[in-house]
Amino acid sequence: MIAKCQLVYIKTFGCQMNEHDSERVRDLLSGRGYRLADKPEDADVILFNTCSVREHAEDRVYGKVGGFEKLKKTRPDLIIGILGCMAEARKDLIFRKLPHVDFLCGPADLDRVPGIIDKIKNGAGHIMCLGGHESGRLPEFSENRCPGNNVYVKIIEGCNNFCSYCVVPYVRGRERSRPSKEILDEVRRLIEKGAGEITLLGQNVNSYGRGLKEKIDFVGLLKKIDRIASGAKIGFVTSHPKDAGVELFRAMRDLKSISKNLHLPMQSGSDKILKRMNRGYSSEKYKKLVEDFRRMVKEGTITTDIIVGFPGETKKDFEDTLEAIREIEFDAAYIFKYSPRPFAAANKLKDDVPMEEKERRHAVILETQKEISRKKCR
Ligand code: 5AD
Ligand code: SF4
Repeated sequence: MIAKCQLVYIKTFGCQMNEHDSERVRDLLSGRGYRLADKPEDADVILFNTCSVREHAEDRVYGKVGGFEKLKKTRPDLIIGILGCMAEARKDLIFRKLPHVDFLCGPADLDRVPGIIDKIKNGAGHIMCLGGHESGRLPEFSENRCPGNNVYVKIIEGCNNFCSYCVVPYVRGRERSRPSKEILDEVRRLIEKGAGEITLLGQNVNSYGRGLKEKIDFVGLLKKIDRIASGAKIGFVTSHPKDAGVELFRAMRDLKSISKNLHLPMQSGSDKILKRMNRGYSSEKYKKLVEDFRRMVKEGTITTDIIVGFPGETKKDFEDTLEAIREIEFDAAYIFKYSPRPFAAANKLKDDVPMEEKERRHAVILETQKEISRKKCR
């Protein structure tokens, strides 16, 4: 008798890093004979790869996973897992709020997902596989990826910056760079398989190389990748303004394969707020970086992230941000309303900008950016 093929459904929330992590879990499970289900209702295993970066992202996960409680009652064999940042950030809450969830697995332990599923099939109860980042390990994955034209390659995991609003250092752990040989081998294999656009991923790509035995930095890595790119386009996210500079811009200008798009989160145009956010740069320094970039990378584009309504953000602070946006004229801006995050230092500050005011500031910046984008398109 031929055993029925097991079906898995993966729903991903959040950033490109999560998209990529899901892709790796998918590949790992395909290597074990799983096939992808088109609909969660058809699946034997449903996985949610989750995001904790803003409250709204977590609310969406609670809503979506909550909707599967009934299905689980009618199909007790169904396995439901919560992967990623929220598994780490909300480990104390999830099984209480969502008792039909079978397991939690943090971002640094994702290569353990197939083993966890096997244990649950063999009768284990709730499983938590968390905290892998504390040992500094990077999860290992099979490398038989079957890429499309656009693919991600992780170069560094975790973050050491501790921006005061951000949960990432607590759920993804400290920075760990992958050795350049491993990255180059992966890039080579992906290009051989037909990848045309490769995006290098890291919370702060500019600190690539710190802590590795080899002596290499991000620009050094870009140079090595450029030599083997053979026609593929290489992009990267995210850059941190305190670590980006003219050396990077020179590489973006001179290396043929390297994309000329710089995603450089500004977060705020007020020095007082930048300081409270622990960002490590002033508004003036940020503007100077943009000036250098535009002077050196003639066809470059620049995009940003902005948070409105950070604790203590007055109308004047907000005006400073608006002013900076008008002055810089970004090619695109992603605007977020501040929400307090577990573990993050800003949790100790009073979340004192009322929601209606956050919404107003959000709308004003959106409209301002729309006008700028319209003007740029003309
Ligand atoms: N509240 C609102 N936005 C946030 N971001 C990170 N943490 C928070 C938070 N607590 C935004 C930042 C970051 C982007 C990925 O998400 O702008 O650059
Ligand atoms: Fe979070 Fe700041 Fe690290 Fe980005 S650089 S992941 S915003 S702590």
